[in-house]
Amino acid sequence: MASVTLENVSKIFPGDVYGVRDFDLQIRDGEFLVLVGPSGCGKSTTLRMIAGLETISAGTLKIGDRVVNDVHPRSRDIAMVFQNYALYPHMTVFDNMAFALKMRKTPKAEIKERVAWAAGLLGLEPLMARKPKALSGGQRQRVALGRAIVRKPAVFLFDEPLSNLDAKLRIETRAEIKRLHRELGTTTIYVTHDQEEAMTLGDRVCVMCDGLQRQCAPPLEIYRNPADRFVAGFLGMPSMNFFEGHLERTDGQIWFDNVDVRLRTEGALSEWLGSENRRDIVAGIRPESFQFNGSEAASEGKSISATVQIVEPLGSQMDVYLVLKSGARIVCRVPAQSLAEGKSVALRVDPEEIHLFEPRTAEEPYGRSLRVEEELV
Ligand SMILES: Nc1ncnc2c1ncn2[C@@H]1O[C@H](COP(=O)(O)OP(=O)(O)OP(=O)(O)O)[C@@H](O)[C@H]1O
Ligand SMILES: [Mg+2]
Repeated sequence: MASVTLENVSKIFPGDVYGVRDFDLQIRDGEFLVLVGPSGCGKSTTLRMIAGLETISAGTLKIGDRVVNDVHPRSRDIAMVFQNYALYPHMTVFDNMAFALKMRKTPKAEIKERVAWAAGLLGLEPLMARKPKALSGGQRQRVALGRAIVRKPAVFLFDEPLSNLDAKLRIETRAEIKRLHRELGTTTIYVTHDQEEAMTLGDRVCVMCDGLQRQCAPPLEIYRNPADRFVAGFLGMPSMNFFEGHLERTDGQIWFDNVDVRLRTEGALSEWLGSENRRDIVAGIRPESFQFNGSEAASEGKSISATVQIVEPLGSQMDVYLVLKSGARIVCRVPAQSLAEGKSVALRVDPEEIHLFEPRTAEEPYGRSLRVEEELV
C-alpha cells in the first residue's frame, strides 16, 4: 500500500488546452479519495496521469516516496477499473481475472489461490467458467473489480465504474466497493460526477472545476462548509438556492435583503458586516433548511413569501418548487404533507442555516464562502 502525492501537477494538451492546472493533493496510505466534478473538469485526466496513461506536463507525482512521472504504468503497482469493464470477451471469468498475473509470470498455484480469494470476496465463484457475454452488467463490473484486486496493487484507481449500471445495481455495487475497501484497506482514488457516490464513498472528497481543485475535505465538512458557490451548488440535491442581495444594519438589527427576501438575521451573520453598515453578498440556503409556516401569513423578517409551483413527492419527503415575487425560483425539501400547487406559503429559515458568499468577481467567478477562512489545500 502507498500514499499518492501530486505536487503542482498540470496537464496541458496540444493547443495550450489545460486539462488540469496546478493540482496539489496528498492521498494518504489507505485513504479512499473521491474526485468529483462536472463533465470536462479534469477528473479522468488526473486519474490517467496517476495511472501513467497520460504524460504529466508539469509538476511531480509520487507513489509512496518514489517519483513516478516517468515510470511505465505497469511498474507503478496500481490497478485501474473503468466504466466499460474492458473485459476480454473470448476469455472466461477465471482467465480474465488471472490474465494480469499470468502476464507477470506468477506461479500457477498462486494464480489459482489469488483468483479464488478474489472470487470469494466478490461472490463470483458460480460464474468462473462463463464468458463476459453470458454475464449481466453488474456481474461484469464485479469481474472487473476482481481482476483489479487479484493483483493486490498498492493503489486502486476507479474511473466512473458504476455509470453503466442501473440505479439499484449502482447502489449495491457502491456498497460492495466500500466493503472491499474496508477489508483490503488499499489506497483508492475514485472518479465520479455523481455527488451521491462521492458523499457516500469518500473519506475525503475533492471537488474539481475547470481543471482546478476547489475544495478537498471530508464529505460532511464540504457539505456544511462549502468553500465557494461552485462547491455549494454542486454538492447537495436538489442544489442550494442562492439569493443575490446585501447585508444591512438598520435600527441595530442586521438584515439580509434582496428583491424577494428580507430576513432579520438575529445576530447570526453580524460578524460578516464588521464596521460597515452594508455590503453586497450572496446568501445560500439549502432546500432542506426551509420549513413551511403552515397557513400562517409571512411574519416580518422571519420568512419568505412564495407560491407553490410544482410538488414532487419522494415518499417520506417531497421537493417543492416555488416562485418568488420577482419570478425567481427556489426549491425546498420538506416532510411529505398535503400542499396544493398555486398556494401561497411562508417559508421559515433558521439564520444559522444561511451560507454567505462573496459576490462574483472576474478573478473569483464562484464567490468564496465567507465562513471558510483557511486556505484551500
Ligand atoms: N487528448 C486530449 N486532447 C485535448 N484535450 C483533452 C484531451 N483529453 C481531455 N481533454 C480536455 O481536458 C479537459 C478535461 O477532460 P477529462 O476527460 O479529464 O474530464 P472529466 O472530468 O473526466 O469529464 P467526464 O465527466 O466527462 O468524463 C476537457 O476539457 C477535455 O476536453
Ligand atoms: Mg472522465
